[in-house]
Amino acid sequence: MRAVTWQKPGDVSVEDVPDPVLQAPGDAIVRITSTAICGSDLHLYEVLGPYMTAGDVLGHEAMGIVEEVGPGVTRVRPGDRVVVPFTISCGECWMCTRGLQSQCETTQVTDQGSGAALFGFSKLYGQIPGGQAEYLRVPHADYGLITVGADLPDERYLFLSDILPTAWQGVMYADVPEGGTLAVLGLGPLGQFAARIGVHRGYRVFAIDPVPERRDMAARHGVEVFDEGPEGIEAIKDATAGRGPDAVVDAVGMEAHGSPIARTAHQIMGHLPKAAGRKAMETVGVDRLAALHTSIDLVRRGGTVSLSGVYGGTASPMPLLSMFDKQIQFRMGQCNVRSWTEDLLPLVEDAADPLGVTDLVTHRLPLEEASAAYALFQKKHDGCIKVVLDPGHR
Ligand SMILES: NC(=O)c1ccc[n+]([C@@H]2O[C@H](COP(=O)([O-])OP(=O)(O)OC[C@H]3O[C@@H](n4cnc5c(N)ncnc54)[C@H](O)[C@@H]3O)[C@@H](O)[C@H]2O)c1
Ligand SMILES: [Zn+2]
Ligand SMILES: [Zn+2]
Repeated sequence: MRAVTWQKPGDVSVEDVPDPVLQAPGDAIVRITSTAICGSDLHLYEVLGPYMTAGDVLGHEAMGIVEEVGPGVTRVRPGDRVVVPFTISCGECWMCTRGLQSQCETTQVTDQGSGAALFGFSKLYGQIPGGQAEYLRVPHADYGLITVGADLPDERYLFLSDILPTAWQGVMYADVPEGGTLAVLGLGPLGQFAARIGVHRGYRVFAIDPVPERRDMAARHGVEVFDEGPEGIEAIKDATAGRGPDAVVDAVGMEAHGSPIARTAHQIMGHLPKAAGRKAMETVGVDRLAALHTSIDLVRRGGTVSLSGVYGGTASPMPLLSMFDKQIQFRMGQCNVRSWTEDLLPLVEDAADPLGVTDLVTHRLPLEEASAAYALFQKKHDGCIKVVLDPGHR
């Protein structure tokens, strides 16, 4: 089959790879009809290069049609239309039964000290072949796969795989009081949904992003938008009686603009020999912390900072003085996708499209064009906000 593979930092290519086969009784094989590129793929593209191996199949936002199931699969049947959550979880362990599916004890990548295995996500998360491909093997298919109806287009459902539940969890963790205020940093696909979910829940929502078309898109959905920089911060503080918003969702993560030293570290890290690169990741602060520091500065005293953006360094400096003095609560983590499906399914199927899932994708390109698509999404050229790759199976 054809699949998007990581080759070296900043270089992905579409190659012939073996078709996936059933390996365990609980597996299913899904024929992919739509598969998106995520901001998390951009981390793998460069900075997390030391954890990638040439030929790794990328992708963790996919949906399609079940082709084949193992003997242990009873709920899902061949022919079912399904969305594949990016976190691989069993549904039965101590963590899963407490709604912490991204910490699943059955799939945890213990040799790396990581949480649940993820599709297409480097050695750190189990090196499981990903969904930017014609076919995908899905472990624990009965629990994981989200079965959906046949009538609505893929774009309605696809984002149940990652960014919709991630944004939802980010806003739940932000714990905004009823009628309160929320600021979202970053208006990539994840920030778009976090901000819209805030509006949907009746909060006053502010958002910051340096890219004009991303601000315009959010403004169409009732979000008050600002450019990066001190004016936006001041305006949001003014609008919240000088205190700052009740909560901030950081939907940027470690690719933040405005951290020139860490940017250089990023570039060096991605290109170091593997062992040296991994060592450096473990000992040097590689995160570009501009957005995280803005979150801490902006949130009101006693408020909550909810990190949805992924950070990856183990030695990134944090302003503990402000964090302690301002009495800030922090929540973060990979999304527990299956915890939020029941909340989100009615919203994506609602004819009124309350979260605007049909107003996000700017580019639908053939899977074969993945290399150009990655560059387009990373550089934000051509108004690119979200790319869906099409393996030609619809
Ligand atoms: N926790 C999870 O389970 C999970 C799931 C999906 C994505 N993510 C993470 O969420 C983050 C965003 O993903 P995305 O797909 O929206 O990616 P993206 O890269 O398209 O979006 C990031 C946005 O942040 C903006 N930005 C950069 N620096 C900024 C700054 N200093 N202030 C304000 N805005 C700034 C960029 O212009 C961009 O629009 C990534 O870190 C990704 O890894 C986490
Ligand atoms: Zn993702
Ligand atoms: Zn589990």
